Amino acid sequence: MANVKKKTVFFCTNCGYESSKWMGQCPGCREWNTFAEEPVAKAGGSGIKQRRNGAASRPVLLRDVSMEESGRTKTDMPEFDRVLGGGIVKGSMVLIGGDPGIGKSTILLQVCRNLANMGLVILYISGEESLAQIKMRAVRVGGAGENMYLYCETSLGDIRETIEEMKPDICVIDSIQTMFNEEVSSAPGSVSQVRESTGVFMMLAKSLGITHFIVGHVTKEGSVAGPRVLEHMVDTVLYFEGDRHASYRILRAVKNRFGSTNEIGVFEMRRNGLVEVPNPSEYMLSGRPEDSSGSVVTCCVEGSRPLLLEIQALVAKTYFGMPRRTAAGTDYNRVNLLVAVLEKRCGIDLGACDVYVNVAGGIRVNEPSLDLAILLALYTSYKDKVVSEHMMAFGEVGLSGEVRAVSQAETRVSEAKRLGFTTVILPKSNYALCQKTEGIRLIPVETVREAIGIIGRQ
Ligand code: TYD
Ligand code: MG
Repeated sequence: MANVKKKTVFFCTNCGYESSKWMGQCPGCREWNTFAEEPVAKAGGSGIKQRRNGAASRPVLLRDVSMEESGRTKTDMPEFDRVLGGGIVKGSMVLIGGDPGIGKSTILLQVCRNLANMGLVILYISGEESLAQIKMRAVRVGGAGENMYLYCETSLGDIRETIEEMKPDICVIDSIQTMFNEEVSSAPGSVSQVRESTGVFMMLAKSLGITHFIVGHVTKEGSVAGPRVLEHMVDTVLYFEGDRHASYRILRAVKNRFGSTNEIGVFEMRRNGLVEVPNPSEYMLSGRPEDSSGSVVTCCVEGSRPLLLEIQALVAKTYFGMPRRTAAGTDYNRVNLLVAVLEKRCGIDLGACDVYVNVAGGIRVNEPSLDLAILLALYTSYKDKVVSEHMMAFGEVGLSGEVRAVSQAETRVSEAKRLGFTTVILPKSNYALCQKTEGIRLIPVETVREAIGIIGRQ
């Protein structure tokens, strides 16, 4: 059979969905144009299977499994530790995703430097930058530690041998999309290569107890697989968010087998690397305009931490038949819903107005507790009223214009008090529990109409 057609499959480069045919829209993640053709990977290509069978692993009784605390190592960067759930767990796999240039390599270099200073052996594998480039960045962020080894290589076979030989404590792979296994015929960065490489690193992490940090670039197009493809394989998934043009960065845990998710760490990119921001509320509110309409402060809770945010809205006359609705940093559909509530329940006609809503600071939040503040910001912009700069509002808004309770109301009120706010508009059902907090005026509301009345009267 000379004319055997090479077998290929199609993968979604966004989520890794596999299909025998090309498709325009991925049924898995609903993204368009993400399918790329790849040759079928040879079974057992990486030799993982043979190894696993060779290892003396057998079932054990659950009650016999010792519960020795897997020992967390602090990285000397409290914000990073917080996102990881209290430090690095030995033998865990941590994926750090984010847009190119957001600071993934920088933060890992800083973490590695701290860990190397504590005496851990680090192997930093880079498939993207040369030794000199990494050295330059290391000098920029404050030097390298004692036991930090750099290794510029992309061949998976060589890397595996080196890791097995060196047995470092921490291994950094920058980035997974550059790793290449010769036994898999598709190109580096393809779904099969990325999965195959992650599989090998996972085997090394679990069998040798080496903690792995894996960098994954978020890719918008092309045939390069994004980090979502390997989210399910790793223990912890962290994403770097933030506007590339603004200086702060938010590191968010979206999956964590060793801690809570949605915990965030806030950093600022400076000339000498990433610096932690211990008081993010203050940071988010810095630069807030005074005496400006359409600006309302609210509080969201990220993981265990309250975060004050400024919601900005601009309601302007439209010059087109179709008024524009724009939402930056929050859910577009939610904003549309709130516009509808404002129209129907408060009798405000926005049919001839463009509406822009923005969460200042570039952070993305989808919490329903923002609803009331968005609605009030829209209202004050429409009426050109200024909300007192010492007033804060939170609450979920329902379709009939009712203001509903949100979780952790007390935490939100305390945070507002800590930052010098004097008045809080909050859902009535949250009022009773928050009364304990002294030194701050609480105004409970049941409906959006009431809330608007308060703003009107202030
Ligand atoms: P980098 O960590 O290389 O991004 P990634 O690995 O996610 O692609 O970050 C690169 C950006 O950070 C680059 O635009 C320059 C900037 N930067 C600073 O502003 N200060 C610094 O000290 C460093 C090291 C980088
Ligand atoms: Mg990088």
